[in-house]
Amino acid sequence: MTTPADNVPPLRPSIWRNWISLAGLILACSSLFAFIFLFALDLLGRGATNPYFGILCYVVTPGFLIMGLVLAGAGAWHHRRAMARDGAVTSPHLSIDLSRPRDRSILIWFSAGSMTFLLLTAVGSYQTYVYTESNQFCGEVCHAVMGPEFTAYQRSAHAKVACVECHVGSGASSYVKAKVNGTRQLYGILFNKYERPIHTPVQNMRPARETCEECHWAEKYSGSVERTFHRYLADDKNTPYTARLLINVGGGSPAHGPVGGIHWHMNVSNQVEYFASDAQRQVIPWVRITKADGTATVYRTAEFKGEPDPAKVRRMDCMDCHNRPAHRYTSPNDAVDEALYLGRLDAATPALKRTAVDLLTKPYATQAEAVAAIDAGLRRQYAGRAGLDATVATVQAIYRDNFFPEMKADWSKYPDNIGHLDTAGCFRCHDGKHSVAGAGKQLPATDCNSCHTILAQGSGTELTKVAPAGQLFKHPSSDIDGMGLLCNDCHNGKNQDN
Ligand code: HEC
Ligand code: HEC
Ligand code: HEC
Ligand code: HEC
Ligand code: HEC
Ligand code: HEC
Repeated sequence: MTTPADNVPPLRPSIWRNWISLAGLILACSSLFAFIFLFALDLLGRGATNPYFGILCYVVTPGFLIMGLVLAGAGAWHHRRAMARDGAVTSPHLSIDLSRPRDRSILIWFSAGSMTFLLLTAVGSYQTYVYTESNQFCGEVCHAVMGPEFTAYQRSAHAKVACVECHVGSGASSYVKAKVNGTRQLYGILFNKYERPIHTPVQNMRPARETCEECHWAEKYSGSVERTFHRYLADDKNTPYTARLLINVGGGSPAHGPVGGIHWHMNVSNQVEYFASDAQRQVIPWVRITKADGTATVYRTAEFKGEPDPAKVRRMDCMDCHNRPAHRYTSPNDAVDEALYLGRLDAATPALKRTAVDLLTKPYATQAEAVAAIDAGLRRQYAGRAGLDATVATVQAIYRDNFFPEMKADWSKYPDNIGHLDTAGCFRCHDGKHSVAGAGKQLPATDCNSCHTILAQGSGTELTKVAPAGQLFKHPSSDIDGMGLLCNDCHNGKNQDN
């Protein structure tokens, strides 16, 4: 007669019973518990405040868990070979008999265990995915490196758009590419090997079609957009100068409005391609436009001979004009003008525009050094003036928001391609120097009223004389007509005497 106990096979030597596997299993179990604990904290909302919490919970802990499991497996594999060598392993005969209570309970425990493990892995990997896509991971964990981009991003029109919506794009292959890239960047950070400033344009940025156009509709007809630029001269009186422009943004799709204006370049019915001879895409000697009917026209500068390398010809998209949609470093000139206009700096303070811009543009090694120098400089010049503390605080805040000497990041390293005042921008192509070889036909839109009309300009009562058809530009400080200079030959975002 057989009792159930007789069915239990004698204790066989197990391949798991070795020190390496044991260590691996202990590691895996403790990481699993750590993960469950951290995950519970996160669910309770305790993790959100610390940027390193996520990295610990969703990257480090699962990492140790996987390491533990791999270690356990490796130990078993090693041990099995050793046992095979000693002849201790006989191929076990596997049979499951559900009528045996022991088999039933093993099966139940095994299934429950696997389910729990799979569920946790699924939750864990989903959370890892979510976390590594979060702004916190992108912007704060790598704070020293991406601090400048993160700071600028937070006050951009896209402050509520996640980094990955523009930088990773949709689809699994984009995700894998981004993570491979990210791992390289992590290496760079750990070994202090990253470039300062971070290189721009971003080499592997997805085309606008897969990023910007996931939200923005290229066919949209924008018509004219009014923008007013409030400026102050660098003289003793901080003389105001304002330009009210009607910017002809237009549109590129005949189905939604007249085709024309600036958004005409949108690649809807035309395709613009160009070749830039420098890494920052600031010097453009060759441009080709292909119309919907297939006719192509090439404009080039007189100095550029031959044909560009086809691999370096880029198809123009949103980011060739809107290259700073999320990380615009304001120039000292723009930032001080804005503060004066908003009343954060008092325009009645003599020569404040010039002084503040000068203090902001001096070379500093660190933000701390700059902040101290700004304090000392302003206090020396305006000792005893009412409101001095607020003035100092405002100029220091401008520095902290826009200048990052540790990363060598500021407006001069990251030119903004919208407009043409401080950098060539639109005038990279529309400078009157690009024409069809031999034919003399120029790239159009070089006259001042083709991209925008100046509705009003100047200060005081001059600004009430609005001209719907546009006025001729009157340069605020001196006559520049006939000099044959582009605006950015003189203007560069700082005071012009230095
Ligand atoms: C609205 C889209 C958008 C969002 C959102 C965005 N970026 Fe960018 N980012 C860009 C563009 C466009 C560039 C410049 C690309 C080029 O010129 O090729 C850029 C450039 C960068 C660069 C390279 C250095 C530089 O300034 O050119 C870094 C680093 C960067 N972004 C990090 C981030 C981080 C971190 C976040 C989130 C906190 C973020 N970005 C959010 C569009 C975006
Ligand atoms: C996830 C959606 C999303 C993506 C991706 C996105 N944007 Fe936007 N963008 C917005 C929203 C929303 C606004 C309007 C913000 C507001 O006015 O509150 C906006 C505003 C803008 C504006 C007007 C800015 C201003 O100062 O008023 C420009 C220009 C722009 N986006 C360009 C881009 C470019 C270029 C890209 C690609 C690099 C891009 N956007 C990617 C959602 C997006
Ligand atoms: C040739 C340069 C150029 C290209 C290419 C371009 N834009 Fe613009 N866009 C401008 C200019 C200039 C303005 C006027 C606003 C300004 O001066 O800041 C503008 C304005 C805008 C605005 C705000 C106007 C509105 O309708 O409220 C949005 C949004 C915008 N662009 C999105 C895009 C998107 C998305 C793309 C790509 C599909 C794109 N732009 C391509 C130059 C360009
Ligand atoms: C890469 C070169 C390039 C850049 C940069 C560029 N454009 Fe253009 N633009 C062109 C070409 C090419 C044409 C079409 C020429 C033709 O019609 O043969 C054009 C045409 C135009 C037109 C005339 C559209 C019409 O109604 O026919 C306007 C307006 C314009 N651009 C504005 C701008 C503005 C504003 C900027 C800067 C924000 C800018 N462009 C930047 C290449 C460029
Ligand atoms: C190729 C198109 C184009 C042409 C040609 C052009 N502009 Fe502009 N201009 C722009 C755009 C786009 C902006 C808006 C920049 C921004 O949104 O910051 C601008 C801005 C300006 C501003 C305001 C600058 C500021 O920041 O205070 C002035 C002034 C100006 N333009 C004058 C001129 C004059 C004068 C000419 C003729 C020599 C001219 N523009 C030709 C596209 C053009
Ligand atoms: C020959 C050099 C030169 C050229 C070229 C030039 N400017 Fe100026 N601009 C100056 C000087 C000098 C001032 C006075 C500086 C100050 O007081 O801040 C000034 C002041 C200005 C101001 C008001 C203050 C400020 O700094 O913003 C505007 C706006 C301006 N210029 C626009 C333009 C535009 C637009 C163009 C191109 C069409 C242009 N300038 C071309 C030298 C030049």
